[in-house]
Amino acid sequence: MHKNAPIGIFDSGIGGLTVASAIHDLLPNESIMYFGDTAHFPYGNQSPEQIAEYGLKISRFLYQSGCKMIVIACNTASAHAFKGIVKDINQEVPVINVIDPASAAIADKYPNGSVGVIGTAGTIKSGIYKRRIQRLAPQAKVSSLATPLLAPMIEEGFFNNKISQTIINSYLEKKSLQNIDVLILACTHYPLIKNEVEKYYKGNVQVVDSAYWVALEVKSQLQSANMLSDAKNPEFKFYVSYLTSVFEKSAKYFFPQKVEFKEMNIWK
Ligand code: DGL
Repeated sequence: MHKNAPIGIFDSGIGGLTVASAIHDLLPNESIMYFGDTAHFPYGNQSPEQIAEYGLKISRFLYQSGCKMIVIACNTASAHAFKGIVKDINQEVPVINVIDPASAAIADKYPNGSVGVIGTAGTIKSGIYKRRIQRLAPQAKVSSLATPLLAPMIEEGFFNNKISQTIINSYLEKKSLQNIDVLILACTHYPLIKNEVEKYYKGNVQVVDSAYWVALEVKSQLQSANMLSDAKNPEFKFYVSYLTSVFEKSAKYFFPQKVEFKEMNIWK
């Protein structure tokens, strides 16, 4: 595998673009091959088995397309598909999920803190954040809330308006999220509503997402394998299982340089 091969990144839709963008900011020489599984969106309310199957298929596609690393830029898929993907292709290429880097950073920063987590029903039901954080910081208190309306709302391009703020507020008012020090946005779609969440808390709660820590992990793993790219003209390819105008618009927003789009049915 050549060090200038692309990094493969996937999500159910536009959410993973927030992770791809953080990786691009930190590592501008890296080429990126992105897969948005828009045909199967949302992942958040599907069975763990189904998510594991989608994740495996997409990871194989990215690996067979020449990617040197796979980043699961979706919390739901990180919760349910990571193990299977690692078993399948980790001998060949490294696989990174979005949950471990964020959990480690939070456990380090808030070892005795009260941590809130919001995410899809699938992610919250898995209990994975609580397990990961408390494994590293047993004194930390972790409370979570499934917020299933948020990802579909964002995927439709519906945020930064009165109605989205009302929906966000009605979730954040819930009892389980009271008296927290920090809130983890445990869905890669949520950085797009980060300012609305911050508006609700008025600076009293720190609001964090995983994108930056994931980018740091990508850098550290590529560096230690001597696989950082030195490409002068990195390429950005975006595949989707169903091309939507919101996806195209969002990808162009995060990657205003020349990008390539292709609708691709890898389930045939
Ligand atoms: N972006 C995905 C995540 O991080 C979820 C969106 C969906 O429900 O498909 O969990």
